[in-house]
Amino acid sequence: MTPLRLGYLGLAVPDPDAWAPFAHEVLECGYREPTGPMPAQIVLDDDRPAIFLERSPETDVRFLGWEFPDHATATDRVRRLTELGIEVVPGPDTVRQSRRVDGLWSFDDPFGYRHEIYFGPHRRLRTLPSQLGHPELGHAFLLVGDPAEAEEFFGEGLGLPISDRISFTMGATPFEPGDVPVDVSFLLAHHRHHVLAVAGLPDGGPTRGLAHIMIEVDSLDEVGKAYDACLDRDLLVTTIGRHTNDEVVSFYLSAPGGVVIEFGCGGRPADPGPHSIPRYDAPSLWGHRPYKPTPETHPAHAE
Ligand SMILES: [Fe+2]
Repeated sequence: MTPLRLGYLGLAVPDPDAWAPFAHEVLECGYREPTGPMPAQIVLDDDRPAIFLERSPETDVRFLGWEFPDHATATDRVRRLTELGIEVVPGPDTVRQSRRVDGLWSFDDPFGYRHEIYFGPHRRLRTLPSQLGHPELGHAFLLVGDPAEAEEFFGEGLGLPISDRISFTMGATPFEPGDVPVDVSFLLAHHRHHVLAVAGLPDGGPTRGLAHIMIEVDSLDEVGKAYDACLDRDLLVTTIGRHTNDEVVSFYLSAPGGVVIEFGCGGRPADPGPHSIPRYDAPSLWGHRPYKPTPETHPAHAE
């Protein structure tokens, strides 16, 4: 059984408070203040916490939460991971309550990331304002030392089959032309073309790190509104573009703490049955170009 989706993730950021206006004005979603041991949260669909924000000097990803349909499928997955030699630990009640789920387990993968397997998400009537339809976390994109090993681990261990791969060359960032080769594997779950992407960089490059996360919304209008909000605040990382493999229309923006978020809509669904696994030679059909502010668009850059 594959996970249903990437239900939540935990980020360490230097200033969680900066996410409150960002959530309201740019993402147009809810922000919940930290209370007691409960960290600040970004709230998306169904009043569910989608991003937990811990305060830390360095921006990093702390954990990724994978939703399973029920106790039986979650424990099957725990058993499979244990067979592979991974230590899986039941989550204490305090963590289970903070994630607002019926049950969870956690484990560390061989690439330096912590994961949580959970079932029974608690939902309640929406109490926070959101103008978005049904925004959801789409995927996380992680750097790993060995993408082939990561493909195998996440397929066998977490139950995420491969959708496809992209091999291309990039410059200083994935969006700039250059001659740095990069291989990306895209792992599907349920109906999503990918819920996780893993990439390895050439020797000397980082072998761990969060490249970006994706928030998926229902309509191009929502993408366009967020694009304008980022344009106004000088948060754009790229222009709008369409990806080759999942055909999503999206753009990349810089959230507080330097977290890169892909914000988009319209991805084609995964083919969970037997399918060929293509390797594309470019990440985008068009767009996704580095955004270069000009004095006309941003007077602050005039000097
Ligand atoms: Fe992405």
